[in-house]
Amino acid sequence: MKKIIYPRIGGVDSIEIIEEKDPLPIRGEVVVRIHRAGINFADLMMRQGLYGSNPDFPFTPGYEASGEIIRIGDAVEGFKIGDRVLAMTGFGGYSEQISISSDRVFKLPESITFDQAAAIPVTYGTAYHMLFHLGRISPGDTVLIHHAAGGVGTAVAQLCRVAGASTIIGTASSSKKDFVESLGVKFVDRESEDFVKICKEMTEGKGVHHAIDPVGGKNLMRSYKATRRGGKVYFFGASSAVRGDRRSFLTAFRMWLNTPKFDPLKMMSSNKAVFGVHMGLLDDPSIFKGHLNALSKMLEEGEIDPVIDGVWRFERVSDAQMHMHNRMNKGKILLDFSPN
Ligand SMILES: NC(=O)c1ccc[n+]([C@@H]2O[C@H](COP(=O)([O-])OP(=O)(O)OC[C@H]3O[C@@H](n4cnc5c(N)ncnc54)[C@H](OP(=O)(O)O)[C@@H]3O)[C@@H](O)[C@H]2O)c1
Repeated sequence: MKKIIYPRIGGVDSIEIIEEKDPLPIRGEVVVRIHRAGINFADLMMRQGLYGSNPDFPFTPGYEASGEIIRIGDAVEGFKIGDRVLAMTGFGGYSEQISISSDRVFKLPESITFDQAAAIPVTYGTAYHMLFHLGRISPGDTVLIHHAAGGVGTAVAQLCRVAGASTIIGTASSSKKDFVESLGVKFVDRESEDFVKICKEMTEGKGVHHAIDPVGGKNLMRSYKATRRGGKVYFFGASSAVRGDRRSFLTAFRMWLNTPKFDPLKMMSSNKAVFGVHMGLLDDPSIFKGHLNALSKMLEEGEIDPVIDGVWRFERVSDAQMHMHNRMNKGKILLDFSPN
């Protein structure tokens, strides 16, 4: 079987595809023949050595994949060969096959496609965690999203609608205006417009109830300012540490230097909260499983439907990642590992 590896820190041209023996399951594991794997922005940061919680190089990235079970180890119950599943791979999802603990595999209802299954966990799981689990979003709430056209951004927009949010404001690159508006989101050009001012103008001067910030650096304090008294800010990414496909120490250092250190006394007197969110480092796996169950119901009931930018054959992984580096994606990018 073939799998993608990051052999060392590098640009997209450092990515390799290697041949390996098909995996055999140990006790408690199943082997999944992968059809689709999700690409996440975190995969790009890992390749640049900017992530912090990935395995040592060389390693295979890929948090999430969908496919079918082709081998079953001892002491596995509830699965059979041929079952269509979602695999929460942690790492290693960019691969034709993976052997994985059956605890991390979820059977797919017939109505859910491999594309949908691989597009949902990280993006919608994160969005759900922020808005519903931490934020207890209520009907009528107002929300600011950055990267509104991206994987998490489109998931946040859909979940805001499910929750009955009254106003959703989203920043993105100028070429995505029509697309962002088609999601029911007020578009703000991330380069030429002032999102703090627009958030205030659209909320009678108060600011939004929820600000979703995966940018970090200076942007985070501006998101805090765009939030009303009693509002909530969710800090869950540092995309401003990245410039192009090669690591820039200067850009990463600037992000770190400019990321604010919040004053708890000021937070207390304005009743504001800042949540730090890292789904890969949740201690209790039942939290994420609960989110997946809720999301699977929403998908079956037609309340959400992941926006898929494109599906790329895995041999073109470098082009697919470059597409994201170039800020071109509208929604989720998937890799196709299905047998030809
Ligand atoms: N903490 C967690 O558990 C968690 C989980 C999932 C995602 N995240 C974070 O959420 C953010 C979105 O993730 P995603 O996977 O859904 O990706 P995504 O939003 O689809 O990422 C690509 C988009 O990000 C924007 N962007 C901003 N800075 C960029 C840069 N330096 N290089 C390239 N694109 C940049 C671009 O859109 P515009 O130019 O239109 O803004 C681009 O199209 C990332 O920061 C990611 O690390 C965190």
